[in-house]
Amino acid sequence: MPREQNIRLGLIGCGGIVQKSHLQGLLDIPNLVTISAIADPIPENRNRVGTAADIISEQRYEDHRHMLVRAELDAVIIATPHHLHAEHVIEAAQAGVAIISEKPMATSLEEADQLLDAVKKHSVPYAIVHNFLYTPGTAEALRLLRRENTGIPQTGRALSLFGKTEDQADPNNVWRASRAAGGGCIGDSAYHEIYLIETMIGSPVRYVEARVQTKFFDFDVDDVAFLLFEHENGAISTVSTSWGMPGGDQSTCEVYTRTHGIRIVGRGRELRYLDKADRRWQPVDLDHGLDNDALSRAGHANYFAATFKALAEGNSPPITAEHARHNLSLIHAAHQATTQRRAIDVTEL
Ligand SMILES: NC(=O)c1ccc[n+]([C@@H]2O[C@H](COP(=O)([O-])OP(=O)(O)OC[C@H]3O[C@@H](n4cnc5c(N)ncnc54)[C@H](O)[C@@H]3O)[C@@H](O)[C@H]2O)c1
Repeated sequence: MPREQNIRLGLIGCGGIVQKSHLQGLLDIPNLVTISAIADPIPENRNRVGTAADIISEQRYEDHRHMLVRAELDAVIIATPHHLHAEHVIEAAQAGVAIISEKPMATSLEEADQLLDAVKKHSVPYAIVHNFLYTPGTAEALRLLRRENTGIPQTGRALSLFGKTEDQADPNNVWRASRAAGGGCIGDSAYHEIYLIETMIGSPVRYVEARVQTKFFDFDVDDVAFLLFEHENGAISTVSTSWGMPGGDQSTCEVYTRTHGIRIVGRGRELRYLDKADRRWQPVDLDHGLDNDALSRAGHANYFAATFKALAEGNSPPITAEHARHNLSLIHAAHQATTQRRAIDVTEL
């Protein structure tokens, strides 16, 4: 859809992540995007985002399907609970707009394939948000990994250990705590560690061994998962995630070559570098000049800037359906490995 003018954007879902992160990132790229319409069934969320984005009342929709019919849009961002993603993508594809969907693309590979059929049938661009690849720390880590003397990553490990309160894990109030809404810690939280470790290792995961379980809360989704990956090039890595391990939210992702280590902290807020000859991790100065809030939003802001630039120029978005389906297939494989107590070859999924 290359356009002379900037992209007219509709938001489907105006909840937590839109208010915390998306909105400012989108308002920061007025040369590429104008938020023209928004949709959310919750009036408070609609009003908050509508006011911040200066949306006239006629373009604030309770029902996103009315927005898709009435508003003049080139693209939508979908940021709704996971079980609604497939349905919302299919409706947006039928309306002929480009689609940027929050992760995960769907709650199952079957749903993912249905929505991909619709995207293909209606020939609309489709992109998935993998924002933590765009944080200052991750971008610099990937640059350091490409340096000749750093070597090839042989092993890696990623952690996302969080401590939810009982309120945050109440399935009656929180969709993330309910299987019917596509919740669970592996698909919601470790989704990010899975693409981060795979990108840092630089080779696709081929085999998945895992245990995905519920140990801490009374709900029907997973709250702990340990995964072991074997990559195409023979490298091995692990992902550990939980919602029942409080004590300071922790998320790190690190890889080791024969000579070096590289560790992303806080999904790319900070970075450490290890020259094994020195035997000490050193902080890397990221020189981003961002305050704390802007640093928290940087992944989304940089991801949106890259994605909307690609769409405006008629190019493929940087994170494609293939990336997103592959990430979902690793999560699916982890569930299968748990029930079958064996390693799963993801090329068979
Ligand atoms: N990439 C990231 O770092 C990141 C971080 C947080 C959340 N997310 C993703 O963003 C999405 C939303 O998460 P959240 O934390 O904002 O959830 P949330 O519950 O805070 O917000 C979801 C919003 O969707 C709205 N909604 C529900 N049904 C709708 C419909 N039919 N049409 C329009 N809006 C509808 C709800 O009213 C709510 O306002 C999820 O996919 C989640 O995984 C991504």
